[in-house]
Amino acid sequence: MDAQLIPASLHDCPVVESRPVGAYRLVSFVAREVAALARPGQFLMVRAAGQSLDPLLPRPLGVHEIDSDLVKILIEPVGRGTISLAGMRVGDRLSVLGPLGNGFDLTGEGPALVVGGGIGAAPLAFTARALAARGRDVRCLLGFRTRGQAVAAELFRNLPVEVYTEDGSMGRKGLVSEPLSEILCALEETNDSSGNAIPEGADSSGDEDKCAPDEFPEIFACGPDAMLAAVARLCSDCGATAQVSVAAHMACGVGACQGCVIRTVDGYRRACSEGPVFPAADIEW
Ligand SMILES: Cc1cc2nc3c(=O)[nH]c(=O)nc-3n(C[C@H](O)[C@H](O)[C@H](O)COP(=O)(O)OP(=O)(O)OC[C@H]3O[C@@H](n4cnc5c(N)ncnc54)[C@H](O)[C@@H]3O)c2cc1C
Ligand code: FES
Repeated sequence: MDAQLIPASLHDCPVVESRPVGAYRLVSFVAREVAALARPGQFLMVRAAGQSLDPLLPRPLGVHEIDSDLVKILIEPVGRGTISLAGMRVGDRLSVLGPLGNGFDLTGEGPALVVGGGIGAAPLAFTARALAARGRDVRCLLGFRTRGQAVAAELFRNLPVEVYTEDGSMGRKGLVSEPLSEILCALEETNDSSGNAIPEGADSSGDEDKCAPDEFPEIFACGPDAMLAAVARLCSDCGATAQVSVAAHMACGVGACQGCVIRTVDGYRRACSEGPVFPAADIEW
């Protein structure tokens, strides 16, 4: 995945929209440079602009959507930083550092499966739209705890979305790893051990064109660690590839403080500057 090529700058951005989306809050602000540079899976370090030092540090938030000069973020108010950001109103100003991190590598081919858990769905609308714009066949599986969070699936307008909730209050009941497992297992069964498909009624000497293997989709995932670990295990079991965006705690966001390191097969890596997107197979879960 690309390292960040352009140094991030600090932007002072006016909020132009702030509205609840179920349990979350969608905040849009004007940030021409960020909008022009941001790639799917990148994030921003965001805090309220001005004199208040509480909280002192900005918080990492994924880029949810770009609309011309507008950047949209989706916030789950869980603590001091996100509650303060979710309280921003039209006319307030945000201090925004970014875009930061590597983002998803979208250059592959073939079908793509976008898998989100909870607020991890936030950066995936931008990702799914970019994949579709590249002509890839996209399918989105989004899992939430309850209906209040699942309402965010409406932000994936015009994308093929399947919603799962743990309590069954919206969409299908269950964890999002369950349909993922079914999809991958079904494809595994249609492929022989060398990865070639065995179409019904065909013998093994069949015409190559008619025997194109059923492709495993490439998976793009963001969500809680337990969900990402399940995605990594399912993909490793059947030979599918996945890129996962990890939500490490961050302080500086630019690779200076080492506060966000995660363990990978190549040693410790900084989630902010060498991630937040990593190949699932590289992470030591
Ligand atoms: C790359 C990246 C992108 C993100 N994108 C979004 C986004 O688009 N929208 C959004 O709402 N949130 C996003 N987050 C998560 C968000 O940054 C954290 O929830 C936030 O830092 C919490 O700050 P706080 O001050 O509100 O909560 P705190 O008071 O710091 O924490 C509140 C509670 O949440 C826990 N917590 C805090 N941060 C994390 C974390 N990273 N992982 C697990 N638990 C945590 C704390 O232990 C505590 O229990 C993202 C995180 C990363 C790293
Ligand atoms: S947050 Fe400081 S190095 Fe990653």
